[in-house]
Order: sequence, then C-alpha cells, then structure tokens
Amino acid sequence: MRIGVFDSGLGGLTVVQAMTQVIKGAQIFYVADTKNAPYGEKTPEQILQYSLNITKYLVKTHQIDALILACNTATSSAIQHLRETYPSLIIIGTEPGIKPAIEQTRTGKIGVLATPATLQGDKYQTLAQTLSSQKSVDIFEQACPGLVEQIEKGEMDSDVTKGLLEKWLAPMRQNNVDTIVLGCTHYPLVGQSIEKIMACNVSLIHTAEAISKHLLTLGTQKGHLNEGDLQVHIHTTGEIHMHVVESLIGAYENIYFIDVENN
Ligand code: DGL
Repeated sequence: MRIGVFDSGLGGLTVVQAMTQVIKGAQIFYVADTKNAPYGEKTPEQILQYSLNITKYLVKTHQIDALILACNTATSSAIQHLRETYPSLIIIGTEPGIKPAIEQTRTGKIGVLATPATLQGDKYQTLAQTLSSQKSVDIFEQACPGLVEQIEKGEMDSDVTKGLLEKWLAPMRQNNVDTIVLGCTHYPLVGQSIEKIMACNVSLIHTAEAISKHLLTLGTQKGHLNEGDLQVHIHTTGEIHMHVVESLIGAYENIYFIDVENN
C-alpha cells in the first residue's frame, strides 16, 4: 500500500508515529507544507487549494492508494472536495475527538483546543452541536493562534509557549475540565506542558491511533497484507526543523524539498 499523508507542517508526524505502530509492509509519503503553514489562520479557499495541490502531487508522483489528511484544519476545508475528486482513493481525515471526550468526562466539562479555522468550520460546529445535544456537557473551546508556529520552531518548552498555554488553559482549570481534546495534530507535542498546567488528572484526547486502525481496516478490505517493512519518506515545501522530525520518528536522513504548486 502506498500511503500519502500531509499536514501544514510537522504536526502530522504525530499521526505517522501512530501509523508506525499499526501499519506494516507499506510506503508512507509524507508532505509537510511548511511553506504555507499555519493553515489554521488561512481562509477555507486557500486551505482547499493547498490540499488539492498536495494531493495531485501525491497521486501523480507517488501513485498513492490511500490519503491521510493528518490535519484537522485541512480536513475541515477540503475532505469533501477531495473525496469527490478522487473517488477511488481511500481518504481518511482527522477530526477533533469530541465523541470520546464526551464519553470519558466525569465532571461533564470538556475542553477543545484547535486552530481558529477548525473551530469556525461548519464541520466542527455541526459535530459539537450534535454530540453535545445527546449528553449534557459544557464545552470550553479555545482557538490557539500562534501555537503551531511555536511548535514548528521546536519551541515546545519555551516561556512564550508556556505563557500562551497558561492563558488559554486558565478558564478550563477554573471550571474543572477533566478531558481536553487536542483538535490539531501539532498539539500532542505540547501535551506534557498541558498536563502540567492543568495540575490534575486531565485526559488528553487525540485520534492518531484510531486513524491508523481505520486505515488498516480499509486497506485490508482492498487486499493489503500488512506484512514486511514500513518505509517513511518525508517531503517538505519549505523550512523544516530536523530535531522535531527526529523527536517524533527517530533518526532520519533524507528530506526531499518539493514544489507542489507547479505539478
Ligand atoms: N496540524 C494542523 C491541524 O491539525 C495544524 C494547522 C495549522 O497549520 O494551523 O489542524
């Protein structure tokens, strides 16, 4: 199985990391669109165009069988269009795990951290309204502008990053939130800081493992045997910080620079 995975930057590698635990005998072609990051502060039209450019590149150059949108923001703006354009591809997106959060919470108060574009998108609004009407919970939503840039720079533990998180998490701490949805694939990289700031038993919800298992199920239905080595090839459209890559998937040598706008 040839699997294309993309994100605005390195955050989607948190999904690749989970995939390496589940998927075997496949090739992963990862695209970090760092030239256009952060997606979360762009318009839905821009995010759709970036997603279409990358998918076209992955289909043409790497003949992928499956596409993983390892980005909540791109899923919100582009997944429907991509499914219509590429009906024969397995296409799996990433959505904030509100459902598991609602199932797990004991205080009935959950937090959602995501990019501005994800929280404003119809997809998230519909999901949150539908699920919160089924069980009475209070949802504390927080957009986190600037956080993706900090993470891309490798500044997971800097004072600036911690200051941003403290400000955003204060209302959640004061209101007894016990479950926080990480609605952006970059945010698991600051998961430990979030746990420390919440200073209590908070559960962090991310969906990378569920995505990987879903891919295995759909791949198996199409004849994927899941045996043998897994290879990961990383491509980027701009600057990338190697130590962030290595902290996620271990020592890594070849990063390919690509231009997906002219393919
Ligand atoms: N990892 C992307 C997501 O899950 C980050 C979006 C961004 O670049 O702002 O939404």
